[in-house]
Amino acid sequence: MGMDEKQAAKRLEELRDEIRKHDRLYYDEAAPIISDREYDRLYKELVALETQFPDLVTPDSPTQRVGGKPLKAFEQVSHLIPMLSLDNTYSEEEVKNFYTRIQRLLPNENIPVVIEPKVDGVAVSLVYENGRLRQAATRGDGNVGDNITQNIRTIRSVPERLRGAAPKLLEVRGEVYMDRKGFEELNEERKKEGLPQFANPRNAAAGSLKQLDPAIVAKRPLGIVLYGTGAIEGVDVDLHSEIFPLLKKLGLPVTERWWVANSVEEILDAIHELDCIRHKFVYQTDGAVVKVNSFAQRERLGFTAKSPRWAIAYKYAAERVETRLKNIVIQVGRTGILTPVAVLEPVFVSGSTVGRATLHNEDEIKRKDIRIGDTVVIEKAGEVIPAVVEVVKSKRPRDAKPFDFAAHVHGKCPVCGSPIQRDPQFVAWRCENLQCPAQTTRRVEFFAARGALDIETVGGIVADKLVERGLVREPLDLFELKTEQLAKLNLGTEEAPRLFGEKNATKATNAIGRARTLPLSRWLFALAIPDVGKTTAMELARFHNTIDHVAHSELLRGVLEYHEKREGGESSNEIAERLIKAGFAKPSKSKMGKGGIVTEVGPVVAQSVLDFFASTGGKRILRRLNQLGIHPKSEKVSAKKAAELPMAGKTFVLTGTLPSMTREEATEKIEALGGRVTGSVSKKTDYVLAGSEPGSKFDRAKELGIRVLDEAAFRKML
Ligand code: IVH
Repeated sequence: MGMDEKQAAKRLEELRDEIRKHDRLYYDEAAPIISDREYDRLYKELVALETQFPDLVTPDSPTQRVGGKPLKAFEQVSHLIPMLSLDNTYSEEEVKNFYTRIQRLLPNENIPVVIEPKVDGVAVSLVYENGRLRQAATRGDGNVGDNITQNIRTIRSVPERLRGAAPKLLEVRGEVYMDRKGFEELNEERKKEGLPQFANPRNAAAGSLKQLDPAIVAKRPLGIVLYGTGAIEGVDVDLHSEIFPLLKKLGLPVTERWWVANSVEEILDAIHELDCIRHKFVYQTDGAVVKVNSFAQRERLGFTAKSPRWAIAYKYAAERVETRLKNIVIQVGRTGILTPVAVLEPVFVSGSTVGRATLHNEDEIKRKDIRIGDTVVIEKAGEVIPAVVEVVKSKRPRDAKPFDFAAHVHGKCPVCGSPIQRDPQFVAWRCENLQCPAQTTRRVEFFAARGALDIETVGGIVADKLVERGLVREPLDLFELKTEQLAKLNLGTEEAPRLFGEKNATKATNAIGRARTLPLSRWLFALAIPDVGKTTAMELARFHNTIDHVAHSELLRGVLEYHEKREGGESSNEIAERLIKAGFAKPSKSKMGKGGIVTEVGPVVAQSVLDFFASTGGKRILRRLNQLGIHPKSEKVSAKKAAELPMAGKTFVLTGTLPSMTREEATEKIEALGGRVTGSVSKKTDYVLAGSEPGSKFDRAKELGIRVLDEAAFRKML
């Protein structure tokens, strides 16, 4: 019953079409017409035939969704149009203000807005060219993200080819999510394998997309909801409400519900209705997004420094549930602070099971009169650690036990036994012993966490045991661990040993190896410098090439000097100019007096960073990084020699208003890539970048036959 190549090709084509059809019915229309078994049979036949005729495998075959080799690292790719974010609000009042503001900005106009679910997933951008999926990327910093095309291809509801007449270019934005059931199954499986649990479906989705091996991603139950476009060519869209049917027609999943409103009342009605039904969606939602429907009106409303004026994200209040407080234990944090933690009867709240909640400090327990055995109300808002809101006094059992913090700790750190001090600045007790194993463990965990150095295998119990067994005394010790040492690490007890094992040890060593080459921003964050969060770390990395530069930063010293002089009433103009020239400050309109500037980071952060690296501990970190041969570099390109840069020698002239970037931003981008921006068009001009209402420069460019770019073409070039 052997087939020849021609017959095989025909059958393959049939099978692929058939499978694509069932994927569509299953994922887009939620109306499958065959059983899972029948589907598997078709799929297996396809795999078998492709194995027999490997030359006939096509890149868009459904089997290729799980294909692709593991990557070493994600490539960085630019979005054609930046991926913006929105300001969040929890207040209906602010939604009202939002609408009155835009009514004031566009007087005497009807301004319809669309209300849609705010999907709690991971933002991604997909690019389809002539109907084919060409690229998928994470948001990254909004301009440049990770190229995760291989991973996105494994999501079965993402079509490889658009249906029907596809536009020439379509950049679509949306959120990748993991549905609740899939999330719970995945965590169950991880528990069995002794792997750390994901805190909620969003983290699980984010963790999945970060995998370098698409075969792993293919096993994760991911889905996608698309809600917007970036660059688009070959189809005219004037209203946001047109996007849903358009995307749906092309075979792309969109939200099942959205509303159009014409007044504040209608907006709030829609928000309330969504709140009633959103728990039935398979994906998690944490709010509603309100967007001006007309693109023409959006353009006229424009942007503030950070986000568009034409949209706002409203977040629903955190979910609250009741549960029993079984015990109170004391945790010692990264900086030695003793925090009381409630041990709870596990409950499901806002997408995950919670077994512990912070009680903040001693005074909080007294103020809320929290006792062991009480029924308490807990709440969890997105990222935030769950907290005990209040006690349900009516349900207090007679034997509920008050908790006396001071008597419980008895002046000693519950972990290392060193004396504790009451921190006068905070209402907290602090263990003063920098070598306290609990503190070291927390520092190691933070250092290795996602978003820091991504050495996930070294979280939780592993960090605990590494410190307990004396293998790690400070985070950088991780870089001197041998795979054999790790493999032998006992995560259990002496009576019931449980070894970390060869496989996990290799995984961990690989992740540690990868961390060596992570960019400067991640390292700055991982070092847990006081006042330096992720955003500040990125800011610092934008302006400095290495950790040493940050440690001895002229710019940060400049910020301090500027503020000192100003406070002392001295002239600070010279420093202000220097900072502006370096791009580290902008002239401020609101700061009183002439020469006022706003700096990229404020004096508190500047002081904190310089202090950190000047301290004994900070100096030690710099020395050790050197010894270990770890030299994190900034992502920016300025390190490259100017002549090697892609736009070296090219001259640009800017005219008109660009849809989504200012002229300064465009200039910055051109210069960063080695190009030059001049004021007038001549024969020597290579490109004219033109926005709306361009001036005479545009006509002159046409006359001289110079290439004119619009923003989309320019972004492509970038
Ligand atoms: S619109 C400028 N629509 O929530 C328009 N965003 O703070 C920006 N999100 O960054 C995005 N659901 O990652 C939009 N229906 C939706 C969304 C949504 C979730 C995310 C997105 C965005 C953030 C808003």
